[in-house]
Amino acid sequence: MNVLIAYHSDYGSTEKMANAIAAGMKVSQSDAVITLKSTEATGLNDLIDADVIVFGTSVHMGSMAWPMKKLIDQAGKLWMDGSLEGKVGGVFATGGGFGGAGGGVEQTMISLYSNFLEHGMIVIGFPKSLPAYADGGLQWGPYGRTGNHEGMPSGISDAALAAARSYGAHLAETSANIITH
Ligand SMILES: Cc1cc2nc3c(=O)[nH]c(=O)nc-3n(C[C@H](O)[C@H](O)[C@H](O)COP(=O)(O)O)c2cc1C
Repeated sequence: MNVLIAYHSDYGSTEKMANAIAAGMKVSQSDAVITLKSTEATGLNDLIDADVIVFGTSVHMGSMAWPMKKLIDQAGKLWMDGSLEGKVGGVFATGGGFGGAGGGVEQTMISLYSNFLEHGMIVIGFPKSLPAYADGGLQWGPYGRTGNHEGMPSGISDAALAAARSYGAHLAETSANIITH
């Protein structure tokens, strides 16, 4: 199983979530080949080569950061020939703003899924029965709040990283079942 985790991270928190998802996937599927790349370093061939594509981004102005949108728009070429159809997709996000996870985390994750579904991909959410969901999960995937009360970056919580590992394990196990059958 080839996995691509492509993420946008300015201050490192979203990257830590990406690493935690990879760690969780490895616990579940030790033979998974996992490639972690920033959105800037991700090419269309990385998407084509993956069985499982995971997109993660920090929230910028209520939605995904523009480098993630740039990658998504560039991958529009792949919509033409359907080369991502049938691949498995998962998402995660971080937000620094006020409220439980910052303003726009859910909208961001839903937008990422919308793109996957446009390609004909199969998307995997985050069931609430799984470990660490209660403190770092939404039905869409794991999320983390990364800002303090002044709105400045303050890092990612252990709860968010635990949710990311839990989601990673679930995503890998579910993907393995889908890919095999
Ligand atoms: C240009 C910009 C816009 C942002 N807009 C939002 C926002 O609308 N809502 C929010 O919760 N956080 C917002 N943030 C905060 C980032 O989401 C936060 O810094 C991010 O989670 C940190 O992740 P990172 O360490 O991976 O960069 C914004 C940050 C930047 C740089």
